[in-house]
Amino acid sequence: MNIELVGLTEENLNECLRLKVAEEQTQYIASNEDSWKTAQENREVARPFLICRDRKAVGFAMFAFDEDYEDPGDRYWLWRFMIDERFQGKGIGTAALREIIRYFREHGADHIRLSTKETNAAALSLYRRAGFCETGEMNGGEIVLALRLQPRLFTGPVQGGRPKQL
Ligand SMILES: CC(C)(COP(=O)(O)OP(=O)(O)OC[C@H]1O[C@@H](n2cnc3c(N)ncnc32)[C@H](O)[C@@H]1OP(=O)(O)O)[C@@H](O)C(=O)NCCC(=O)NCCS
Repeated sequence: MNIELVGLTEENLNECLRLKVAEEQTQYIASNEDSWKTAQENREVARPFLICRDRKAVGFAMFAFDEDYEDPGDRYWLWRFMIDERFQGKGIGTAALREIIRYFREHGADHIRLSTKETNAAALSLYRRAGFCETGEMNGGEIVLALRLQPRLFTGPVQGGRPKQL
C-alpha cells in the first residue's frame, strides 16, 4: 500500500470534501469543509493535506506549524486527521500516521502535539501505538498527547567511501 500526503489546494479540494467520517465519529472532528475554511483563515500556520492510498483520496490531515511560536514545546500540532469511513479499519490510519510523523521530522519539528476526546478509543489506540504519550494537559475538554521526535540520524553516503577509523 502506497500512502502519500498531497498538499490540499483549490484543484483537489472537491476530492477532500467528499470524504466523511461515520455519524458517531462527527463528535471527534470538524467536517473537511470547516477545516478548509480554518486553513484559509490561518494560512501562515495551517498545512492541509489529502491522504492518498495508491493515488486515491482516502483521508485528510492538517498540521499547525508555527516555528516562531514563543513556547518551543508548543509549535507543532497534528490539528486534524481523518480517514473516510469507507476506508477505515484497513491499516490506512496507521500507515498515514507514519507518513505524518515523517513529514514533521523532515520539516524540522522536534515534537508533535495533538488533542482528542478521552472516548475516542480508535484514535487513542493508534496514537499510543505510535509512541504518543499523555501530557496531563487539557485542550478545551480534550486530552493532549505529545510525541518527542529524535533528530534524524545521518544516513547519507560517507565521504571518501569509507568511514574514518577513529
Ligand atoms: C482514527 C482514524 C483516523 C483511524 O483510521 P483507520 O484507517 O481506521 O486506522 P487503522 O485501520 O490503522 O486502525 C487503527 C486502530 O483503530 C482501530 N479501529 C479502526 N476502526 C475502528 C472501529 N470502527 N471501531 C473501533 N476501533 C477501530 C483499529 O482496530 C486499530 O486499533 P489498534 O491500534 O488497537 O490495532 C479513523 O478512525 C478516523 O478517521 N476517525 C474519526 C476522526 C478522528 O477521530 N480523528 C482523530 C481526531 S484527533
